[in-house]
Amino acid sequence: MAAGKGTRMKSNLPKVLQPLLDRSMIDYLLRSVVKVSNDIAVLVGSGGEQVEEHILNNFSNIKVLWQREQLGTGHAVKCAADWWQELDDLIVLNGDLPLLTSQTLNNLINKFNSNRPDCAVITFIAEDPASYGRIIRENNNIRIVEFKDASESERAVKEVNAGCYFFNVKSLLKVIDKLKNDNAQGEYYLPDVLTLMNSENMRVEAYSAPESEMGGVNTQAELAQAGDVMRRRILNFWMAQGVRMLAPETVWISADAELASGVVIMPNVQIWGKSKIKENSYIGSGCILNDALIGENCELVANVIIENSELKNFVKAGPFVYIRDNACLDDYAFAGKFVEIKNSHIGMNSKVPHLSYMGDAVLGHDVNIGAGTITCNYDGVNKNKTIIGDNCFVGSDTMFVAPAQVGDNATTAAGSVITGPVPENALAVGRARQVNIENWTKLKRKK
Ligand code: UD1
Ligand code: CA
Repeated sequence: MAAGKGTRMKSNLPKVLQPLLDRSMIDYLLRSVVKVSNDIAVLVGSGGEQVEEHILNNFSNIKVLWQREQLGTGHAVKCAADWWQELDDLIVLNGDLPLLTSQTLNNLINKFNSNRPDCAVITFIAEDPASYGRIIRENNNIRIVEFKDASESERAVKEVNAGCYFFNVKSLLKVIDKLKNDNAQGEYYLPDVLTLMNSENMRVEAYSAPESEMGGVNTQAELAQAGDVMRRRILNFWMAQGVRMLAPETVWISADAELASGVVIMPNVQIWGKSKIKENSYIGSGCILNDALIGENCELVANVIIENSELKNFVKAGPFVYIRDNACLDDYAFAGKFVEIKNSHIGMNSKVPHLSYMGDAVLGHDVNIGAGTITCNYDGVNKNKTIIGDNCFVGSDTMFVAPAQVGDNATTAAGSVITGPVPENALAVGRARQVNIENWTKLKRKK
């Protein structure tokens, strides 16, 4: 169920698309769900076009169903009946349960399958039951009363409805049309199905699940809290795989990232998207990686930002380096202090040690780029390429006016503006010859 307005988020973005770490909140739940079932539908409504597009783009096997008017969770399930009425069993989940794991879901499915009740509702004991629906157990029956409809003594109950229900479909079909909306919110409540089932002498059970997985996310504060739980879970997972972190409380890793054992992560590091880091690489303080592929034994000294780019093995970078847009640094390459590398290939063992911009460049192996060297890749209309052969020595502060081509083993003189091709083995000097005016200082002082 993802059709609700999410009013309490106070945001234009539909609640289930609110970002948790670097993904939409609903992705986490759906990833758990796809591990336990092949027959999945998401019910959308408020902001539904956006949610539908997101689901279709990210989960090709999940159906999207519509609840055009949001008249409550009971109404929501009824709206989807065309889809579920042919199934044997139905699991209904609130869309705002990002922390629910597939293991817990599996355990609950097994329990439901061995007991075969008409309905099982998942509950937990809440430290602060806040506005959750309260679980009322009386006369051997289980029912739910919403906070807004609850009496003082019902509100004191700490066992709450987690928003996760298991139904025998035939049993659900017998009662769902009988739901009424005569309650404090004027909504059709799915929890009222339990009361209807009780009166039909159907069997309703309650299974408990860990509170740490069942918290519903309704507000920005709860979203941040869930992000913190998820963050901690991801860090613990990678530490168990042999990743070392000096200050895990300062580290952020996305659910899609992959790290190898022996990786060391210093304080204040963020690793987002589908980043991958192989064995024994060192990620220094202040590094931010997004869709970065880092090979084995790399060293990111500190404050290296890498976006959608690859470092092969034994690459060293930083401090203060920005590598972006499909850049690739081959084995043993080096990008040093205050260097930006964009959409460029830096060949094996080539070095860009200081204050350089390499944009749309291809460097061969064993090239040394002098400090302050820049590719002038943009002519105001197009981005042009700079191609530098193997074993070149580029003098400090060379400007390559692209398109530029430098043959193998060539050298450029410091301060050169390179506007034409440089042949193999040549020295290119592209600067005004120095002129000395003798005694200039004395002449000036006389004036
Ligand atoms: C609901 C339960 C409450 C439970 C809590 C657990 C009801 C009436 N109450 O309260 O007992 O303790 O979850 O977190 O169910 N939705 C729709 N269509 C609608 C209304 C809601 O699809 O017309 C979806 C929402 O997008 C959301 C889910 O249903 O994903 C639950 O709705 P929400 O408003 O968050 O319910 P709660 O007030 O949290
Ligand atoms: Ca909720």
